[in-house]
Amino acid sequence: MTVRNIVILTGAGISAESGVATFRGPGGLWEGHRVEDVCTPEALARDPETVHRFYDLRREALAGVEPNAAHHALARLDREWPGELLIVTQNVDDLHERAGAARMLHMHGELLSALCTGCGARNEWRGPLPPGSECPRCGAAALRPDIVFFGEIPRKMERIEAALSGCDLFVSIGTSGAVYPAAGFVQLARHYGAETLELNLEASEGSLLFDDSRMGPAGTLVPAWVEEMLGG
Ligand code: APR
Repeated sequence: MTVRNIVILTGAGISAESGVATFRGPGGLWEGHRVEDVCTPEALARDPETVHRFYDLRREALAGVEPNAAHHALARLDREWPGELLIVTQNVDDLHERAGAARMLHMHGELLSALCTGCGARNEWRGPLPPGSECPRCGAAALRPDIVFFGEIPRKMERIEAALSGCDLFVSIGTSGAVYPAAGFVQLARHYGAETLELNLEASEGSLLFDDSRMGPAGTLVPAWVEEMLGG
């Protein structure tokens, strides 16, 4: 099959070699924190200081971090691939953008953005975001982390589903396949007849659903796969 349209799903594993913590597995963020305390609308209402501080620390940790070879390889594919291509990231870091990726979207929000619950504005935000911070657009003391919490609707699902329905190849990189709807994208892609490839450090919950599943660090596997796709 001539591969024309590609959808690429990335998870925390693609940023691991840049030094960004993953969620599950040794040292993962969910080892040190309960999701219920820092990543639900109820937690934000009950204890905004703790929720805001959790994201302040993750935003701070991004300061000294650089895109790795996997981010750069995907940005090269984005630039050089003649067919349609969409990078759907579950990550809230900006490493894909900083590597130069353009055809991409964040389905779980962005760490470097603050969302106004008053006027809906998204504001670039790089420093601490204490509860009660005022919206630069409407002035309301109504800013929250621009992150999709558990129980909230992921972003841009219509665009993602449209891309999946038209893709010939679905590639999943650095994700445990533990969280829906992202974990279900491989089934959707298969339903539409796409080939499916997984590039991950270890077997994930969905590995058996992929036509091909390659195990190893993204920093090695992704550049090799992009070379393969672009014909060396
Ligand atoms: N290269 C490739 N894969 C790696 C690497 C690496 N260097 N290091 C870790 N991995 C893999 C792990 O084996 C694991 O399968 O990346 C995956 C990371 O899994 P998670 O920590 O569960 O992260 P992710 O899949 O992105 O989580 C999905 O869950 O908590 C929510 O919203 C959060 O977006 C997140 C979602």
